[in-house]
Amino acid sequence: MPAATSMPEAHPGAGALTAVRGEILDFVGDPAVQGDAAHRHHADGVLVLRAGRVAALGPAAQILATLPADAAVTDYRGKLILPGFVDTHTHYAQTDAIASHGAQLLEWLARYTYPVESRFGDPEHAREVADFFVQELLANGTTTAMVFATTHKASVDAIFEAADARALRLVAGKVLMDRNAPERLRDTAESGYEDSEELIARWHGRRRLSYAVTPRFAPTSTERQLELCRRLLDSHPGVYLQSHAAESRAEVAWVAELFPGSRSYLDVYDRHGLLRERAVYAHCIHLDRKDRQRMAATGAAMAFCPTSNLFLGSGLFDAQAALDLGVRVGIGTDVGGGTSLSMLRTLDEAYKVCQLTGQTLSPLRAFYLATLGGARALYLDDRIGSFEAGREADFVVLDPAATPLLARRTAATETIAGKLFALMVLGDDRAVHATHVLGAPARRRAAP
Ligand code: GUN
Ligand code: ZN
Repeated sequence: MPAATSMPEAHPGAGALTAVRGEILDFVGDPAVQGDAAHRHHADGVLVLRAGRVAALGPAAQILATLPADAAVTDYRGKLILPGFVDTHTHYAQTDAIASHGAQLLEWLARYTYPVESRFGDPEHAREVADFFVQELLANGTTTAMVFATTHKASVDAIFEAADARALRLVAGKVLMDRNAPERLRDTAESGYEDSEELIARWHGRRRLSYAVTPRFAPTSTERQLELCRRLLDSHPGVYLQSHAAESRAEVAWVAELFPGSRSYLDVYDRHGLLRERAVYAHCIHLDRKDRQRMAATGAAMAFCPTSNLFLGSGLFDAQAALDLGVRVGIGTDVGGGTSLSMLRTLDEAYKVCQLTGQTLSPLRAFYLATLGGARALYLDDRIGSFEAGREADFVVLDPAATPLLARRTAATETIAGKLFALMVLGDDRAVHATHVLGAPARRRAAP
């Protein structure tokens, strides 16, 4: 397909130009809506960078001739360069609850998740897990994430500090739970409000960090706590909201008991003014048409978390219904209900969930959802998610020959779609050759 080209201009004093060369792909739209016009592909392309931002993108033959003789060009030929992955829903404090056997959502929370989260009042423990988690994100090519901490303020400080140290773009917040949770993890509507205020003042808008008001899910908040969530959002424009919605049938039944006045689970959030722009709801499986229409009309987003939905046996996300109604959708790993921090592994499972609902997820749309789609869900597409000039230069370098099986499968693959599909079905962190944050290599896979 034809690729838009823009030329780097010489701006003396604006920072040295550097560049990376390889096969380059990004999205300017949703392939399910705009077809082939939604992506830009350069079989031999150059991405020009200046001061951590994209300066230009185009075919190597054209761009190289315009670069100053001393511009450093990193040679990634044979690899595939994409915008960094955007993980729209995950829990860093559940790192040690991953792969816990034998329970569905509500039992899994009580048996595995709450005990693990209880340890995050200890700042030392929180720091150690946060560091590990951020390193894993980068090892998997994820450069932006929306993350649950725990009810403890120290857990929020730890994840923001870890992300800030590596310039990772992060949206995170303190979990709010003022009922139906173990005593040691409970706050009150008022203390949760005050703690959130303090954390917003400390972290929101600092470099690449943004705060998210984080009521865990409707069953663990009173009406009063949800009311105060709205007050926080109304008094801090630009602050996010993250929560869970309609994940399992048992949870939906519990919400119906707890909130008899609500038309549906999602209506609990709607009545409290919590469906809005910059609100991201994980799962959104057991919804009806009216719920989905409200998500679209309010600009709230869904995080599709396929590994979690299959692992916990929660149900099958309806990607087509969300698309038909124009709801913003991103991909979430949802560790530790989810089973991997790899967006490649997660896209593989997304494909299988769609297969089970009689839908087909194209590889191009899958990678759109993991990049620009996620950026749109977070209202960050003016900063990240594509290689438009001026965007923050976060990118992942994938190796289509990372394993013997991948190498064998992709050797016979001519098209970009074929290569992407092999990467998402067969790939994991071994296929992430390098991850660049604001232009700089954050992590490079050591030679085997
Ligand atoms: N619903 C409420 N809390 C959680 C959680 O931690 N993980 C998942 N998957 N669903 C939830
Ligand atoms: Zn979750």
